[in-house]
Amino acid sequence: MNDATLRLGLLGFGEAGQRFAADFVKAGLKHVVVYSRSAAAAAPADPLRVFAAAHGVEIAATPKALCQQSNLIIALTPGKAALPALRSIKRYLGNNHLYVDANTVGVKAIERIAKLLEGRCAFVDAAIMSAVPLDGIKAPLFASGSDAARFRDLVAPYGMKVEIVGDKPGAASAMKLIRSVCMKGLAGLLLESLEAAQRCGVRDAVAADMAAFIDAKPFQQIIKRFVCGTAVHAGRRIHEMADSLELLKSVGAPTRMTRATHAMFKELIDMKMPERYNGKEPDSIEPVLTALVEARG
Ligand SMILES: NC(=O)c1ccc[n+]([C@@H]2O[C@H](COP(=O)([O-])OP(=O)(O)OC[C@H]3O[C@@H](n4cnc5c(N)ncnc54)[C@H](OP(=O)(O)O)[C@@H]3O)[C@@H](O)[C@H]2O)c1
Repeated sequence: MNDATLRLGLLGFGEAGQRFAADFVKAGLKHVVVYSRSAAAAAPADPLRVFAAAHGVEIAATPKALCQQSNLIIALTPGKAALPALRSIKRYLGNNHLYVDANTVGVKAIERIAKLLEGRCAFVDAAIMSAVPLDGIKAPLFASGSDAARFRDLVAPYGMKVEIVGDKPGAASAMKLIRSVCMKGLAGLLLESLEAAQRCGVRDAVAADMAAFIDAKPFQQIIKRFVCGTAVHAGRRIHEMADSLELLKSVGAPTRMTRATHAMFKELIDMKMPERYNGKEPDSIEPVLTALVEARG
């Protein structure tokens, strides 16, 4: 990417692509061009063309035209389309381009894309960390790769916030997927516990009690309490989880998340984690996590 003027190309013109395109134009970017197969094939009265025209966004007729008309390309296709979409435009990319994959996609696919683009154009792995319909261009992004700072500096004047999380492609996508382990898992735990509460006729009281517990302290403190307390008190808590399991079974509620928690406590006990701390919680999560990594190798 040699010329200084930002010419933005979006590969994908769905929920995220449409909102980003409109927001970039609104924020003052003169040149925004998009490509998707349906947009390129759309008739003049098609809602995609009407939306593009209303927001000053140009629709490229082909992947080649998208590349010719842009120097920063942000891919916003479904994750499973990340590689096929890249393959459709790869031959038109050159050293005047910075290609940013902002799809939600696995780390292996990102590493594959990085390899495919090696020696052809600059590449940044990016992950969108909130809902685009809610936050638009202000949705926070994680980015990694040697050109991540260049990406951040190019889009910052338009209000896009990019946080650099590593110098290798894959780190940004890994962060998003690791965060999902907790956020999506939390959703599973809420569903399992609240279904049991519904069956026992205590749904609203349980929900209110859990909300009061979470709301009472900053989440950083809860992380420390959960990580350190679990390691130190695994021996005691496994009995509570056994009783919880029995209760869930007795009311016909699902048990898969609770069985996993019970198995996790058993593993910590087998690793002799509680003995390491002699009943006293460490001051930070670091020693617990280091011990876990060392124990598993
Ligand atoms: N929307 C959000 O709030 C949000 C938040 C975080 C992350 N993300 C991530 O951002 C990416 C895009 O999300 P989205 O919600 O905009 O998805 P979407 O609404 O399903 O839109 C996907 C777009 O990609 C296009 N596309 C698919 N295959 C293509 C190909 N081979 N070449 C060119 N374009 C292609 C589609 O059009 P055609 O099929 O007609 O080509 C469509 O315009 C996803 O990876 C998603 O996980 C989205």
